[in-house]
Amino acid sequence: MIIGVPKEIKNNENRVGMTPAGVFELTKNNHKVFVQKNAGFGSGFLDQDYKDVGAIILETIQEVYASSDMIVKVKEPIEEEYPLITSKHVVFTYFHFASSEILTKEMLKNKSVCIAYETVEDKDGSLPLLTPMSEVAGRMAIQQGAKYLEKPIKGRGVLLGGVPGVPPGRVLVLGAGIVGIQAAKMAAGLGAHVTIMDINMKQLRYVNDVMPNHVVTEFSSEYNIRKRIKDHDLIIGGVLIKGAKAPKLITRDMLKEMRPGTVVVDVAVDQGGCIETTKATTHEDPTYIIDDVVHYCVANMPGAVPYTSTLALTNVTLPYVLRLANLGWQKACEQDETLAKGLNIVKGKIVYEEIAEAFNWNIDAM
Ligand SMILES: NC(=O)c1ccc[n+]([C@@H]2O[C@H](COP(=O)([O-])OP(=O)(O)OC[C@H]3O[C@@H](n4cnc5c(N)ncnc54)[C@H](O)[C@@H]3O)[C@@H](O)[C@H]2O)c1
Repeated sequence: MIIGVPKEIKNNENRVGMTPAGVFELTKNNHKVFVQKNAGFGSGFLDQDYKDVGAIILETIQEVYASSDMIVKVKEPIEEEYPLITSKHVVFTYFHFASSEILTKEMLKNKSVCIAYETVEDKDGSLPLLTPMSEVAGRMAIQQGAKYLEKPIKGRGVLLGGVPGVPPGRVLVLGAGIVGIQAAKMAAGLGAHVTIMDINMKQLRYVNDVMPNHVVTEFSSEYNIRKRIKDHDLIIGGVLIKGAKAPKLITRDMLKEMRPGTVVVDVAVDQGGCIETTKATTHEDPTYIIDDVVHYCVANMPGAVPYTSTLALTNVTLPYVLRLANLGWQKACEQDETLAKGLNIVKGKIVYEEIAEAFNWNIDAM
């Protein structure tokens, strides 16, 4: 198969859909790979790195799309890419169709096969191509939170690890899922006192078993949250109710109960956030302050660490890319239920019901 790796053109997106290691595997399997000039630059990979493992570098994005059967990328196609995608293409990337009617209509119109990373789903309901980005965001939440706790950027002026004779900072983590556990682990590693809350007892039991003693689990309830926000320095929002908006666990009135300079990092911002005062921010301008509480609500946190994020993402996407290239999309999906869940749009038809539901379209009439 001929595989194309375009450079991401969405604002501030430095990740790339395939590393030289991925190209190496594909060329070893007798596939041809076209990589757009400088596609890997933002993630630390040079054109020469790709050439060394057999890729052919093409100057323009137009050439990459026109020369390839399967496109492997990171972000959903944006307007400039719409005319480049045609009925010959299989496109394997994050799409998030339910949040864009225009993208959905365009991909229906061009009759391509769209396989979305975010809906590739294991039998146990986990989402293997989303997990690494939650791992990155969870770990980064503490790195960012620790920074914004510094006084010059309006934080409380607390060093999370404390020093001998001075108690460590206190971190409250809402949600003991992937984001929450990674955040708790990082905070604990810095020596902070950590309280982690969830409504899922299984998750709390797991955390209690594997984390050190300065990570304390507590059942998530409004009463407990109201109590803890008063004396915690950094609050991480990592809750998720699948397919729904995040519950507002911290309401506007609660900000007044927090000490000035408390930092909230609402990782769940992409699902609306679990703090009532959350609004999405960008890496250029990541924070804002309401009632003396510093809010960090960047919707694409992994974008700030493209080297790590690209490797983490491509580690999990590559096995599927190889299967798609070796077998073709139809056979690959027939043989692999997990991958088949990623099929969203096939040749002008929506095959993932939730997308049609998101726009109140009748899937059978399409
Ligand atoms: N901002 C970013 O860049 C970024 C990156 C990756 C993920 N995310 C987002 O982070 C959020 C968390 O992702 P995840 O992968 O950890 O999800 P997850 O499903 O692994 O974990 C979510 C946890 O929240 C818990 N929960 C649900 N309701 C709760 C409540 N009322 N109180 C406490 N806990 C509750 C669930 O039981 C679950 O354990 C998602 O919204 C995801 O989209 C954001």
